[in-house]
Amino acid sequence: MSVDDDPDPAPGFGARSGWSREQAERIERTPSNTAPVVYPPAADPAPDVHVWDTWFLRERDGSIAEVDGWRVIFSLTAPADCLPGKRHDVATIRYFYSRDGERWHAGGPVFEAGRALGSRQWAGSALYDDDGTVSLFYTAAGFRDEADLTYHQRIAVGAGGRIDADGDGLELVGPFDHEILLAADGDRYETEAQSRGMIYTFRDPWFYEDPATGETHLLFEANTPVPEGAAVADGDPARQAFNGSVGLATSPTGDPTDWVFEEPILDAVGVNQELERPHVVERDGRYHLFVSSHLHTFAPDLEGHDALYGFVADSLRGPYRPLNGSGLVLTNPANAPYQTYSWLAYEHAGELLVSSFFNYYDLGGLGIDDVGTLPGEEQLRRFGGTVAPTMRLRLDGDRTRLLGKLAHWHLPAGDDDLPPLLGDLVADGRLGGEGGEETATYEYSYP
Ligand code: FRU
Repeated sequence: MSVDDDPDPAPGFGARSGWSREQAERIERTPSNTAPVVYPPAADPAPDVHVWDTWFLRERDGSIAEVDGWRVIFSLTAPADCLPGKRHDVATIRYFYSRDGERWHAGGPVFEAGRALGSRQWAGSALYDDDGTVSLFYTAAGFRDEADLTYHQRIAVGAGGRIDADGDGLELVGPFDHEILLAADGDRYETEAQSRGMIYTFRDPWFYEDPATGETHLLFEANTPVPEGAAVADGDPARQAFNGSVGLATSPTGDPTDWVFEEPILDAVGVNQELERPHVVERDGRYHLFVSSHLHTFAPDLEGHDALYGFVADSLRGPYRPLNGSGLVLTNPANAPYQTYSWLAYEHAGELLVSSFFNYYDLGGLGIDDVGTLPGEEQLRRFGGTVAPTMRLRLDGDRTRLLGKLAHWHLPAGDDDLPPLLGDLVADGRLGGEGGEETATYEYSYP
């Protein structure tokens, strides 16, 4: 497909722009968007825990924070013997720190036991503010003392943390002041009670300061309320139940605990239920909005993949059109369709680096819903539960292209150089071959 064939921005239902069925129908694996098969890492810096959704400690302007030469990541974690499907019920945010983005030290749980909101904490983002305090935005899932686990979700912050760092290490120090920042309003953002029975979402706050306006925002994953009988998705209730959105809240003062809802910036009514972990990479005044989504959260008759999807606009509020015509940016290979998930794209050294976690692998023909039927040890054997290899992409206008990959847990930042690309080595004559080809067609299978 050429750039000229790109669809125009589509209208949203509750948002200014939408991800339309026509756009999503263009989703197709190609060598430019399909990762190679991922294998388990030789060594795991956190063998005692499963690690999944991961994010950096950042400054207000989005740059990755360096504190006394250390960078910090936060991850959702659960004990390594927890069945992978149960990990969401006991998720705990831990932190890791590194000098070089390759070797990571485990810092332990971020919050003191029993102080955070929710019965467990889901994904978020982390701000290292100008006054040296750390605000950790997170999803309060359930309620702190609930007897039976609920899937209620609210957006919360633990504010006022501090960092003690020196040449030997780094420690995140509390106490954190916990506060609910946002709960779904039922108007722009669906409440759990309004939900039509699909997986409900109101979560994954992502702090973002818009360089063009200086405004301070939170983006988050949500659902757009669709009244019964609405004239959207051909009026088909089965398709209308799929109503994922990317929500927006703005801080009138820049205070990271003070937020006012705005309209969602994108929704996918009739197309997809979950637009997960939204985040933005701004380059040259263009806003690249990324979300993760699953094969099984596409509406009936649409075929997507577990993948990173992206959209681009000239302003944060849109209108957005899909990258690559369809929105598909990076997915797993057809023979390992669930191997990684929960992608996070960031710019480094002129490339788009994409981290994710190593999810279910070596499933043979099994689908993700079949995993829970396997004996516990088989489920554990097939679950990566660690940071996946970082993928390297080129971002060029409305197009992205996979260039290569780095190791598991390799998260370059700051002045870190990137190793030469295989294609460049070939082109330079440092490796044999015809040269010029930067991507290969991946046809791997498990040994
Ligand atoms: C993505 C995700 C997030 C959520 C977390 C819960 O992997 O679904 O949206 O915060 O997992 O474990």
